[in-house]
Amino acid sequence: MIGQKLNDAINEQMKWEMYSANLYIAMSAWAESEDLPGIASWFRVQVEEETFHFNKFFNFVAEAGGRVMMGAIEQPKNDYDSVLDSFKHSLAHEREVTRRINGLMDLALSGSEHAAAIFLQWFVTEQVEEESSFGAIVAKLERIGDDGNGLLMLDDELAARVFTPPTA
Ligand code: FEO
Repeated sequence: MIGQKLNDAINEQMKWEMYSANLYIAMSAWAESEDLPGIASWFRVQVEEETFHFNKFFNFVAEAGGRVMMGAIEQPKNDYDSVLDSFKHSLAHEREVTRRINGLMDLALSGSEHAAAIFLQWFVTEQVEEESSFGAIVAKLERIGDDGNGLLMLDDELAARVFTPPTA
């Protein structure tokens, strides 16, 4: 049985996962409007990742005898100055998600909720991957700078991303 405090905190986190999905939809739409279909597609795959995260939390709360409650989700930013701006914004967002996941883990450990702590371990590891994938693209974009050809090559590279449901 999940404790009420942790249940409430995970409900809050589910809001963040849905906000993440909305944020990446907005970034994908912005990239489409800039004629960068590969980057747009990359962000759409990220939307699937975030939906997967949301569902993983939902299933845990339901299985642990808790109650999912959804709150209002803030509107994401729809316009960006550049591709680098959108990825820097994403990286900052993922760092905030990591901070929140760590807070959930602290809460589970302080309440001796061992099943929840084992469940949350997956997200702790997943956030290392999330920050790494956004960070690597930020680094490439910084190297590309104002080189339009470099940006088109990156757009082609990012088009190859497909969603593969992460293993448990
Ligand atoms: Fe659900 Fe991108 O963290």
